[in-house]
Amino acid sequence: AGDARAQARNAQSLEELEALLAGFDGCPLKFTAKNLVFADGNPASKLMFVGEAPGADEDRVGKPFMGRSGQLLDRMMAAIGLDRTNAYVTNIVPWRPPGNRNPTPQEVAICRPFIERQIELADPDLIVCLGSPATQTLTGTKDGILKARGRFYPYRVGDREIRALATLHPAYLLRQPVQKRLAWRDFRTLRAALDGKA
Ligand code: URA
Repeated sequence: AGDARAQARNAQSLEELEALLAGFDGCPLKFTAKNLVFADGNPASKLMFVGEAPGADEDRVGKPFMGRSGQLLDRMMAAIGLDRTNAYVTNIVPWRPPGNRNPTPQEVAICRPFIERQIELADPDLIVCLGSPATQTLTGTKDGILKARGRFYPYRVGDREIRALATLHPAYLLRQPVQKRLAWRDFRTLRAALDGKA
C-alpha cells in the first residue's frame, strides 16, 4: 500500500490518476475485472458521491452506478434537482469483485490511496458516502450505517476538512424498500447542505 500511496500522489490530475490506475497491478481485483470503473459525472462539481464497488453492469460499461442501484441513485438525485452533469460519482474500489462479493478489507486498503487522491484532485465541498464501506473507509467511523446515516463526518485532506454525509446504499434500499424514507430524509439534509442551510 505504501507503493500505491506514492504512485497516487504522483498523479497531478484526475486523468493522470485514471491512467495510473489502469496500469496499476497491485490489486488482485484488476485481474478478474473486465474494465476499470473510475468515475462518472462532472469532476468539476463540488458534490461527490462515493459507493462501494462496481457490479456486473458497471464492469461491462466501465462506469459506476449503471445497473439497478444506479437507476435508483439517479432517481434519488433527481428528486433533489441533481444529475450527473452537476455531481461526480465514484466508488472506493474501482474494479468489480468476482461474483459481486464484497471487496475484502485488504482490497479496500490497497485501493484507498487512489480514492483519497481522487477526492483530493476532484476537490469537492461535500461528499456523500453511500453505505457502510464508503462511510467507514472514508471517515474512519466504526458506527454502523443505520447510526451513521444522516450525519456529517469530517473528511480530512491535508489541512482542509470536507463534510462527508453518510446515507444508505441504493442496493440496500432495493432490498429494504421500507428504508427509503430514511434515505429520503438524508437527501433532504443533502439538499439543505447544498443550499447552505445545513
Ligand atoms: N454499487 C456500488 O457501490 N457501486 C456501483 O458502481 C454500482 C453498485
